[in-house]
Amino acid sequence: MAKTKTVFFCQNCGAQYAKWQGQCTSCKEWNTIAEEVVQKAEKSDWKTATTASKINKTAKPLRISEIDTSQEARYNTEDAELNRVLGGGLVPGSLTLLGGEPGIGKSTLLLQISLKLPYKTLYVSGEESQKQIKMRAERITSKTDNCLILTETKTQNIFRQIEAIDPDIVIIDSIQTLHSDYIESSAGSISQIRECTTELIKFAKETATPVLLIGHITKDGNIAGPKILEHMVDTVLQFEGDRNHVYRILRALKNRFGSTSELGIYEMQGSGLREVTNPSEILISKKDEELSGTAIASTLEGMRPLMIEIQALVSTAVYGTPQRSATGYNLKRLNMILAVLEKRAGFRLGAKDVFLNITGGISVDDPAIDLAVVAAILSSSEDIPIPKEYCFAAEVGLAGEIRPVTRVEQRIQEAEKLGFSTIFVSKYNKISLQNTKIRMQLVAKIEDVVEYLFG
Ligand code: TYD
Ligand code: MG
Repeated sequence: MAKTKTVFFCQNCGAQYAKWQGQCTSCKEWNTIAEEVVQKAEKSDWKTATTASKINKTAKPLRISEIDTSQEARYNTEDAELNRVLGGGLVPGSLTLLGGEPGIGKSTLLLQISLKLPYKTLYVSGEESQKQIKMRAERITSKTDNCLILTETKTQNIFRQIEAIDPDIVIIDSIQTLHSDYIESSAGSISQIRECTTELIKFAKETATPVLLIGHITKDGNIAGPKILEHMVDTVLQFEGDRNHVYRILRALKNRFGSTSELGIYEMQGSGLREVTNPSEILISKKDEELSGTAIASTLEGMRPLMIEIQALVSTAVYGTPQRSATGYNLKRLNMILAVLEKRAGFRLGAKDVFLNITGGISVDDPAIDLAVVAAILSSSEDIPIPKEYCFAAEVGLAGEIRPVTRVEQRIQEAEKLGFSTIFVSKYNKISLQNTKIRMQLVAKIEDVVEYLFG
C-alpha cells in the first residue's frame, strides 16, 4: 500500500505547507491551516482508455491565423439574461462557476435552464435526490425533455456516466459536494475542490463540452474554497439579491469571453425565475400622487440604460450630531454633495439628518445620478415634489457646476422610451440627437436647477 501523504492547507487562501503553523504566511490569517490527506492512488485522468483513443490529445503550436475558430459558436442558453451576462452564450469547453448564498436560487436557475435547453444536458446533483429535483422541476414549466438527472458525488462515476450518454452540456450542483477517489480528504476540502475542478477542466477542454458549476459562498461573500478555484475557471458568475425581495441579480465577476459589466435581472416567482426584460419598470415605485423627496435618475449598468428612483429624507436632527446615511450610494459622495449645496446654493443642511436610499435594493456608483440625488434632497428639504415626468442625468462638481456624463444619448433615449417629458442634462454635454420628443433641459449650475424646480 502506498504511503498516505498529508499536506497542510490554509483554508482561507489555499496556500500549501509541509507542516502546521499558527499563522498563514501568505494571507496572514490565524488558525486557518488544516491537515488534509492527499494522493491515494496513481494520478488521475477523467477518461478511461476507450475514449482516450477518440480524442486527439497531442497539441501542436499554431499561428493565430491558423487557429480555427469556426467551432467556437456559442451555445444559446435560451435565457436572454444569462446569455448577455456570459457575453453571448456558453463557450464550448468553458468552465463557468455560479456562486451565491444558500437559498438564493442557484439550483433553480440552472435546473430551469437545463429544462429549456435544446441540447442534451446532464444535471449532476450531489445535494438533492432525484425525487426532490423532480418536485422542483414540476414547479418550473419545462419545454424540453433533453435533461438527464444524475445524483452522484464521485467524479469517476460521473465521468463514467458522461462517457455513456455523451451530453452536450454538463451542470454540477455543487463543486463542494464532489469527491475524487484520488484524494483522501473529505468532500469540500481544498484539495478535493482543486482536484475535482482540475479533472472537470481537463474533461471540458478535451471534449469541448461547456461545464457549469455551482459554488457555495462563505459568510463574508467569497466563493467557498481557495481563491484558486476562481483562477481555474473561465467565468465566475455571482447570483445575488435579498432573500426577502423577489429580485435577483446575476453578474459576471470574471469572464474570459466577454465583458464583466453586464447584468441580468430575474424575479423569483412561484413557478421559477422570470427574466426581467425591462428593469426600469421595477426600479421605479409606482405611485399616482406626487411625493416630495424622490427623483428619477437615468443611469447605465454595463451597456444597459436603467432608470432608478432616488429617495431622500431631510429632517431636523433630534440629537446633537446630525445623521447621514446612504443605502446604495457612496456616503462620502453624499457628504460632498451636502457640502456643495450648503456652500454654493445656500441651503442650510448642516443641522439636518439626511437619509438617502436607492429603491430596489441596488447599489449604483455611476456619477451621473448626482443630479437626481441633489434634486431628491432639495425636494425633501423644501417639501416640494418634483413632477414625476422629470428625470436627471448629470454629475455635480465641487464648484456646484453640472458636469457632462458619458453616453448621454442612450440615457435620454431610455427616458424617452419610458415616457418622461423632461430630462435635466449638463449644458456641456454634446448631444446630437434629432427628432426626440423628450425636452432636454440644459443646466450649467446648481442654481439653475433650483431656480427651475423650486423658483
Ligand atoms: P434554490 O435554487 O434551492 O437555492 P440554492 O440552490 O441557491 O441554495 O432556491 C430555493 C428557493 O427558491 C427556495 O427558498 C424556494 C424558492 N423557489 C421559488 O420561490 N419558486 C420556485 O419555483 C422554486 C423552484 C423555488
Ligand atoms: Mg442548491
